[in-house]
Amino acid sequence: MDRILINGGPRLNGRVRINGAKNSALKLMAAALLSDEPLILTNMPDLADTRFMATLLEHLGVNITRPSETRMDLHANGLAEPFAPYDLVRKMRATFNVLGPLLARRGTARVSLPGGCAIGARPVDLHLKALEAMGAQIELDEGYAVAQAPKGLQGAQISFPFVSVGATEHAMLAAVLADGETVLNNAAREPEITDLADCLNAMGARITGAGSASIIITGVSSLSGTTHRVVPDRIEAGTYALAVAATGGDVIVENCVPDHLDVLWDRMRAIGVQVEGQDDQSVRITQNNERCGAADIETQAYPGFPTDLQAQFMAVVCRADGASIIRETIFENRFMHAPELSRLGADITVHGREAVVRGVAQLHGAPVMATDLRASVSLVIAGLMAKGQTEVNRVYHLDRGFEGLERKLSALGADIKRVSEAG
Ligand code: UD1
Repeated sequence: MDRILINGGPRLNGRVRINGAKNSALKLMAAALLSDEPLILTNMPDLADTRFMATLLEHLGVNITRPSETRMDLHANGLAEPFAPYDLVRKMRATFNVLGPLLARRGTARVSLPGGCAIGARPVDLHLKALEAMGAQIELDEGYAVAQAPKGLQGAQISFPFVSVGATEHAMLAAVLADGETVLNNAAREPEITDLADCLNAMGARITGAGSASIIITGVSSLSGTTHRVVPDRIEAGTYALAVAATGGDVIVENCVPDHLDVLWDRMRAIGVQVEGQDDQSVRITQNNERCGAADIETQAYPGFPTDLQAQFMAVVCRADGASIIRETIFENRFMHAPELSRLGADITVHGREAVVRGVAQLHGAPVMATDLRASVSLVIAGLMAKGQTEVNRVYHLDRGFEGLERKLSALGADIKRVSEAG
């Protein structure tokens, strides 16, 4: 199993290029199931999660090629049996989003209930209720959702009791081929939702309101292929920005959409980091202070502070001059990085969904264990500013979501390398 070794200290300087968004790419890939024509995705990241999704889609009969590093062609003209087995679903929650498209296109599907990061219960009840509202009959059978819609799906009024990114996307993926109009109320507003709507509309779907809390989808009888550029990964962009906040330095984060991170920029300015938009695709992060200041954050659905940047922000304020309060409102059990950060000398007290981080003057390198995708990168950030060597174990979590992390950080001046068990 690989480990990452970091010698903390160096400031980060230079330019870093951001990839297409993992979270968007996975749902766009599922959208390929909706058409018998090719879907070409550009600005595609190459990650463990996208490969895993590709394996599932291939099992479902989608022909997938990667003509270049950043392009994926998906062609679902000869679908196989609509059956997604446990082994191809369990590692990652987003795989569950194949249920709706399979049901819309085939009228029946059997999909294993998902796994994913160990950050709370994360049920799929909202996904299932949305599909049921569209007329699907769903039974749970030995860990599988077995769904039927022999007469096709019907448009429906769906009001989500709370905001769910995955359920909003899943409902969209099903409603595009339903008979009539579907209205999604209290829909998620994340940029990845808008990206999915843009792609589906380019395939011939009729979706309005994506990016607002009310999305209207008028079903069409079939969808065509298209070429779509995956939206840049705001979480990857925010992660590099926070890495600079941690180490100090001067970095231009390129190929991102700075507007998608307004709330992060606000919090970074609050801790004394300079953030300057360069244009609509890049942002310059400068940190000249020896230590940053403290600031509180509370995670919220978009446009609030992203839960996927909570761990990274926590790592940064471990060395703040003052105390910060971090509230996690999206997931329970999403502070598993806190005890690991404490191993580096951080002073963190967790009470339920709130963590109090009292800044310390210096972190000290130590072996730590990655527990989930975003938590693992927070340990890397902490290692970059710690004195001495930090060893991050279980880095397969990182590979799920961060392409070329060591390469990109090394290019910015970090002392970081990956070693395999043998090496
Ligand atoms: C997506 C992102 C993830 C991000 C999260 C919140 C992907 C692949 N993952 O996850 O990185 O952290 O949005 O921004 O896009 N819930 C239910 N029932 C459901 C669905 C969700 O109770 O049927 C709960 C979840 O347990 C969680 C909350 O709703 O507490 C929000 O989850 P959701 O927005 O659905 O997250 P994901 O789509 O799983």
